[in-house]
Amino acid sequence: MANYQWYPGHMTKAKRMMQENIKLIDLVIELVDARIPLSSRNPDIDELGKNKSRIILLNKSDLADARKNKIWMEYFTEKGFHVLEINAKTGAGIKSIQGAVQEACREKIARDRKRGILNRPVRAMVVGIPNVGKSTFINSFAGKACAKTGNKPGVTKGKQWIRLNKGLELLDTPGILWPKFEDQTVGLHLAMIGSMNDEIVHLDELACELIDFLRAQYPGLLEKRYEIEISEAQNAYDTIKFVCISKKCFLKGEELDIMKSSAMIVDDFRNGKIGKITLEMP
Ligand code: G4P
Repeated sequence: MANYQWYPGHMTKAKRMMQENIKLIDLVIELVDARIPLSSRNPDIDELGKNKSRIILLNKSDLADARKNKIWMEYFTEKGFHVLEINAKTGAGIKSIQGAVQEACREKIARDRKRGILNRPVRAMVVGIPNVGKSTFINSFAGKACAKTGNKPGVTKGKQWIRLNKGLELLDTPGILWPKFEDQTVGLHLAMIGSMNDEIVHLDELACELIDFLRAQYPGLLEKRYEIEISEAQNAYDTIKFVCISKKCFLKGEELDIMKSSAMIVDDFRNGKIGKITLEMP
């Protein structure tokens, strides 16, 4: 899905949809981006999803720092969520979800059983901010062979449920959460991973922010990727210039093409080519 820009109208609509759909389900499967687990979350889901079973999936874990993935898993586990790290694109980690669903819904299943309700499937909805991987996840979790259960009488018209197995049905359209922009770093981190409209960010400024972060937190990675000697660079802007020279980003004549190398750095980061990098810690 393309980059998003959020307006109050979007948020109101997304929230209304969420409120409607959440009534139909037992379990919220929330995707966050493993590189920015906080900025890619909207904590309003905690209020909307109270009384529901909850699973958090650290998606795009392939692009994030493996050691920090573990730290985030502990963080969310301590907060009472069932947590898994996955790669929706390759399907890595997805097999473990069934077990997590059973765990997360244990109380509901026991409650049903007490009331004599046997074999009522758990109904789940996938939620997350745009671009976090919801559609990719639904496809890979449900697989191609999945059966749609179709519209059922008594259930809100038009809802499609995907039957994953006897015990689990998934709403086929994900719930879209809106990012919470109050904090400036949230916007910056969303821009870094490419979940903001690039037209509204300055790539050279974004590249500078990334460079400052990488130099402090992941020393050596920029040097390796761009074959530069970073210790000689005074600051982030200098580093961009070094990349220009090393990667031959020139405008007409000998003038450095700062924008081209900025875009290269940002792109390489987003695609994991600089390394497996996590931008946020609990
Ligand atoms: P959304 O429904 O939440 O908006 O997200 P969507 O599934 O459209 O995924 C957004 C982008 O993230 C897609 O890339 C998708 O392939 C990629 N993606 C999803 N999960 C993972 C993951 O676990 N790891 C990695 N590395 N990427 C993931 P795209 O650029 O839009 O398409 P494409 O380049 O994959 O074709």
